[in-house]
Amino acid sequence: MRMKKIVGAVACLTVLSVGAMAAEMSNAKIYEKYCKKCHGANGEGNPAKKGPALNDKDINELFDALMDVQEKGFEGPQHEAMAHNMKVLEKKKGIKVDAQSMAKYLYYSFNPEAR
Ligand code: HEC
Repeated sequence: MRMKKIVGAVACLTVLSVGAMAAEMSNAKIYEKYCKKCHGANGEGNPAKKGPALNDKDINELFDALMDVQEKGFEGPQHEAMAHNMKVLEKKKGIKVDAQSMAKYLYYSFNPEAR
């Protein structure tokens, strides 16, 4: 039935957007492997790599920045370096960062105000 398929697809999307599925890489793993070198073990930033601190941003700032990075936001050119990083990650490793869950992860892991 067509309707059942649609309901199934919606349910599936909901699960996906809630967070990392078992088969996917968790945000913690993604960060550890692909973000830490430029943004620091605790989101404090890494000047040597020009990576800005992320631990001083609130959840909305992080979300907006990640949306911009993925070129779904308003300010593309501001995030050229990151836009490049995300494309490489997606093309070469098949890893798609979910802006919403990653913003949450970054905020609650690193921002002292979240605790
Ligand atoms: C090669 C170094 C490098 C890697 C790897 C990297 N970043 Fe970045 N990131 C940068 C630089 C440089 C900027 C600032 C310029 C820009 O936004 O393009 C930035 C900016 C950001 C911003 C916006 C911060 C702000 O001030 O608005 C976020 C959020 C972010 N990165 C998250 C991530 C995440 C999540 C990952 C891993 C999937 C990651 N970065 C991997 C270098 C890096």
